[in-house]
Amino acid sequence: MAITFTDSFLDALRDRIDMVELVSRHVTLKRSGGNWLGLCPFHDEKTPSFSVRPDRGFYKCFGCGAGGDAIAFLMQIKGATFPEAVEELAAISGLPLPESRPVTPEQSRQRRERQEQYTRMERIARYFSEQLQHPPAEGARRYLQKRGLSRRSIERFGIGFAPPGWSGLIDHFAGGRAALDLLEPLGLVIRKESGNAGYDRFRNRIIFPIRDLRGRCIAFGGRAMNPEEPKYINSPETVLFNKSRTLFGLNLAQEAIRREGSALVVEGYMDVISLAEHGISNSVAPLGTALTSDHLQMLWSRTHRILFCFDGDTAGRKAAWRAAERTLDGLDADRHAGFVFLPDGVDPDDMVRREGADRMRDRLVNSAHSLRDLLFSKMGEGLDLEGPEGRAATMHRALPFIERIRDPLLRALYVEEFRSRLHLPESWQPAQGGPGQGGPGQ
Ligand code: UTP
Ligand code: MN
Repeated sequence: MAITFTDSFLDALRDRIDMVELVSRHVTLKRSGGNWLGLCPFHDEKTPSFSVRPDRGFYKCFGCGAGGDAIAFLMQIKGATFPEAVEELAAISGLPLPESRPVTPEQSRQRRERQEQYTRMERIARYFSEQLQHPPAEGARRYLQKRGLSRRSIERFGIGFAPPGWSGLIDHFAGGRAALDLLEPLGLVIRKESGNAGYDRFRNRIIFPIRDLRGRCIAFGGRAMNPEEPKYINSPETVLFNKSRTLFGLNLAQEAIRREGSALVVEGYMDVISLAEHGISNSVAPLGTALTSDHLQMLWSRTHRILFCFDGDTAGRKAAWRAAERTLDGLDADRHAGFVFLPDGVDPDDMVRREGADRMRDRLVNSAHSLRDLLFSKMGEGLDLEGPEGRAATMHRALPFIERIRDPLLRALYVEEFRSRLHLPESWQPAQGGPGQGGPGQ
């Protein structure tokens, strides 16, 4: 019985693997445009003809013809079998292995269906982007211009327009029940109760395609231009789209993340797009949900430095604390997180348009709070840090969070720092085996 992994598992695995990081474990790579070049490990050569395309997730040698994805690379360089390579990549990326199952005709049918869905999503993205050029999109084009987006950004992000009617997209797929059957599983139509009729989900909205790490379109976000309407609507989760594993803009940002050695996490579509418009291209955003540990893992596998940028208002502070908590889980010595707070009611889009890219960059570097500062001020909230009760309570509150740090030395240093900032006696030690109330997983 052949052992196999599902396509969605293998996709998730490939998405989490940084090809340049993986290959660099075996080959010295130098950047050259969008590629990375090195001496081919699979044949003898003096000039580099071995190239890695991080955005596509593959390598190719123009000398000996070797090439493939991350799995193929491990199989070739280690002489591993397919399942061994998959297991190793799963271990590297922290993705748990699924139960192995045999390939059934049903599974191969699903695989074909999935492929067709990706193709269909591409066709839909093209439809929206063409609509933006048509006369009814005049207001949409003016809106984008007013928000400072150049033609280049519109193309880079594939921004489009859903016309106002109820069935523009359905009609583009020749209408009728067949169109509904194709579009409903992709989250693009809302079916009426009768089942035979339905209408377009996105109407009279600016459309932002949402792409996975390999650049495949998996969902859409739509912004209303009319303030009466709900501001954004997004595709629901579908077989292609898992919100908690998707970061808007990461497919485009990953090059800049590597180049600059850091990733910037912001809150919205327009923040990512507007920052990129101003040349700050390493930013990504979750899709109207809190940051998940999967999101963070996707970033940590690409960089050791993550900056979070929040609005300075109460909601922003709350979001920052949630992100900080996520970041504590699995924190180790070479992971740095910084938290930047903008003035109340100002988001990164507003800020970069107001002060320009250079001052924005300075702000990001110079005003970032460290994770321990954030933790310290959060733990001390509402307590009197002058009095012994407040100092002791702060430490008691902080310990379960500090316990979540993976690296034992780093954990000890956090305790040390808190002890010193709270002026606790040097003789004091946290109880062995953790703080008792709380700890990891609570
Ligand atoms: P914001 O309200 O901060 O919007 O929501 P924004 O990104 O600044 O957009 P503009 O500048 O007003 O156009 C942040 C993110 O939260 C999600 C979207 O992903 C948005 O980008 N959101 C917001 C929704 O999903 N639905 C909403 O109605 C509002
Ligand atoms: Mn905004």
